[in-house]
Amino acid sequence: MCGIIGYIGKKKAGEVLFSGLKRLEYRGYDSYGICVLNNFGEPIIHKKVGKISEENFSFSEIEGNIGIGHTRWATTGKVTVENAHPHFDCKKEIFIVHNGIIENYKTLKRILEKRGHKFSSQCDTEVIAHLIEEYFNENLEEAVRKALKHIRGTYGILVLSPKDPQKIVGSCFSSPLILGIGENELLVASDPSALISYTRQIITLEDKEVVVLKPNDFFILKEKPIETIEWDEKEVEKGEYPHFMLKEIMEGPEAVKNSIKGRLIPERGIAKLGGLENVKEKLSQIETLHIIGCGTAFYAGMVGEYMIEEYGGIPVEVDVASEFRYRKPVLSQNSACLFISQSGETADTLEALREVKRKGILSLGIVNMPGSSIARETDAGIYNHIGPEIGVAATKSFVSQLAILVLFTLFLGRQRGLSLIKGQRIAKDLQQIPQKIKEILSQKEKIKEIAQKYSKFSNFIYLGRKYNYPLALEGALKLKEIAYPIHAEGYAGGEMKHGPLALADENFPFLVIALSDSVYEKIFSNIQEIKTRNAPVIAIASEGNEEIKKIVDDVIYIPKTSEMLTPLLVAYPLHLFAYYMGVIKGNDVDKPRNLAKSVTVE
Ligand code: M6R
Repeated sequence: MCGIIGYIGKKKAGEVLFSGLKRLEYRGYDSYGICVLNNFGEPIIHKKVGKISEENFSFSEIEGNIGIGHTRWATTGKVTVENAHPHFDCKKEIFIVHNGIIENYKTLKRILEKRGHKFSSQCDTEVIAHLIEEYFNENLEEAVRKALKHIRGTYGILVLSPKDPQKIVGSCFSSPLILGIGENELLVASDPSALISYTRQIITLEDKEVVVLKPNDFFILKEKPIETIEWDEKEVEKGEYPHFMLKEIMEGPEAVKNSIKGRLIPERGIAKLGGLENVKEKLSQIETLHIIGCGTAFYAGMVGEYMIEEYGGIPVEVDVASEFRYRKPVLSQNSACLFISQSGETADTLEALREVKRKGILSLGIVNMPGSSIARETDAGIYNHIGPEIGVAATKSFVSQLAILVLFTLFLGRQRGLSLIKGQRIAKDLQQIPQKIKEILSQKEKIKEIAQKYSKFSNFIYLGRKYNYPLALEGALKLKEIAYPIHAEGYAGGEMKHGPLALADENFPFLVIALSDSVYEKIFSNIQEIKTRNAPVIAIASEGNEEIKKIVDDVIYIPKTSEMLTPLLVAYPLHLFAYYMGVIKGNDVDKPRNLAKSVTVE
C-alpha cells in the first residue's frame, strides 16, 4: 500500500525522487522520506509526516545522484517521523524503503535485539535493515539475499549503503517492483507512473528476484524481455481538473472506447478477445464460472453475474476475494475463475488466485495494470487499456470492467446459443455507450447542485434492482469512501420491507435507481412506500419518464439503452454525486483518509 522509488544516474536524485513520489502518493500518503548519497558518499535523509504534494522543501538543494524514496500508508507503527521510511540499521549504514508487510517481524526483532541491535522505530521494515547489517560484508546484494531468506510476508524493497556505494539493490515478493531503463540512468519503482517521465523501457521483476542498479548498468538473476509502456505522460497528470477523480470520471467515454477497441465485431454480434485465444477451447467446455474481486471490482463482478447468466448461458457465482480465500469453496474441474482487479496487486484477490491455481482450475483476469501480479499469474486475461487510474476511488476502471464483462458475455454467449440478432443488438448498444456517457457528463453542474442540496444529511440509502442492485452498492461505497463522515448503504429494492424501511422519515434521504426497464414497476412501488413516509428521494430515471418527476424530490435523467448495459450509464450520476459531496465536505477526494489505491496487504 506504499510507494517506493530508487534513482541512479546523472540528475539530482532528490529532484527525481520528489517527482516520482508525488506520482506514487496515491498508494499511501501519511508520511514520506528519502535517502540520497551525496557527492561525498554521505547519506542525506529527509523524512516527514504528511503528504509529499504539500512539501515546500527544495529537493534540488540535495546534491547526489543516487537515492531511494518512500511514501507511506501506515500498517505497523503509528504515523510518526521515526516510522517513516527509509529505515536504517544500528550504524546508519544500511538504508531501506519497503512496500508490504513483514509477518514475522516481532520474532525477528526479539532475536536481533538479543544480539544487541538497537531499534529506532516501531515499523516492521526496520528488521530488514538490521538483518542486512548482520550479513553485510562489503557486498550489499549478497547481504540482501541472505537477509530476505528470514522474511515471511510481502515486500518490495530498495536498499542503499554508503559502504557499498554506487549501487541500489531491490527485490520483491507479492509486491510489484518495476525497473526503468533510461538514457544514462536507471530507476526502479513500485509502479510505472513514477517512471514514465524518464523512460518507457521497463522490466517487471518477478517474485524473489534481486536487481542491482549501478551507474549505467544493472543485473537481475534471470534475463527478462524489455517491454514498452504505452501510457501517455498526460495520463498521470491532473491537467485542467482540480482532482484526478473528476478527470477520471470525465475520461469515461474514452475508457469505454479503448476497452472495446478492436474487440467488438458488431455485424457478427461477437467479441474477439485475443487474450483468451489460448484458452478458448477450454472455456467452451466450462460449466460454472466464479468471479472474484474486492470493493468496486467485486460490484463489477456482480453485474457480470447478471449479464453472463442472462446472455452467456453459464451459471455464475460471485465472491469477495477475502471470503473466497477462506471459505473453502467447492470448485469443479469444469469451472473457471475470473479475477477482476484494476491494480492487479490486491492482496486478497491475488491470494485467491493462487489458491485456485493450486487446485488446477482455469484462471482468467480482467486487469488494468500491465505486468501486475494478477496479470502475470492468471492463465489468460483481458487488459482494460484505460491508462493509469490515480484517484483512490475506482471510477473509469469500474465502467471499463463492465464494458469488458459485456464483451466476455458475448464471447461466451455466442459459443452457447445466444442468437445473432441478440448479439448484434448488444454489440450495437455497447458501441453507443461512450456517446451516452457524454450526455450524462454534460449534466454535471446539475448533479453538483443536487449534491449541495443534500449535503446536510448524514445518512443515505441507495436502492436498485436486478442489474442496478450492484450499482446501489457501488454508489453507497463511493459516498462513504469520498464524502465521509456521511454514511450510506446500498440495498436491493425488494429488501426494503425486510428492515431498512424503518429508517424512512424526512431526515433520511434515499437515492433510487428507477429506470424504465423490466423491474420499473417494482422499484416505483418502493419509491411510493418511501414517499408515504416523507423521506426525500433522488431518482436516477430514464429519459422521457415524466411520471417519476411528480413523486420524487429530484431526478437525474440518463439516456435509454438495453437493460443489461444500463449500469455503464448509472455509474456516472453515482460517481459524480459522490465526488461533489466529497468536495463539499472538504475531503481530499483523491486520497481519502485511511485508504490507499492498491490494497497490497490483507
Ligand atoms: O485494484 P483493485 O481493483 O483490485 O481494487 C479493489 C478495491 O480495493 C477498489 O475497487 C476499492 O474498493 C476502490 N477504492 C473503491 O472506489
